[in-house]
Amino acid sequence: MALYSEKVMDHFTNPRNVGKIEDADGIGEVGNAQCGDIMKIYIKVKDDIITDVKFNTFGCASAIASSSMATEMIKGQPISKALELSNKAVVEALDGLPPVKVHCSVLAEEAVKAAVKDYYDKNGIFYEPELLAPKGCVDCHGEHH
Ligand code: FES
Repeated sequence: MALYSEKVMDHFTNPRNVGKIEDADGIGEVGNAQCGDIMKIYIKVKDDIITDVKFNTFGCASAIASSSMATEMIKGQPISKALELSNKAVVEALDGLPPVKVHCSVLAEEAVKAAVKDYYDKNGIFYEPELLAPKGCVDCHGEHH
């Protein structure tokens, strides 16, 4: 059985929205202490809509595929929708990840939230902290890692 779904392989070998937005409205950078992987997501926001998004991920195949998929899922969406994006939704959209790799998708959820937080902070927009709290890893029962 193949370890990775076709979608994971597709998004790893041909990631969407790779790069950097020079005049980004929000930048989220997160890292996984265990594996040392780093993910950076840039967003452009207009009228509460994420009009553009790009990412740079220095990480494993699953982290790259997860960030690629996450950027596709939030592009053109209202911020409120982007904040609803869970790592579980990313994993499902990728047709699954091997259990030991699910944590890589958590990075994508965290990076999106960190980018929105940066946007809110820069613009003095008030937000409920829970809104930006990661929903937690689906395979570790809410325990964050
Ligand atoms: Fe580190 Fe995948 S092993 S994010």
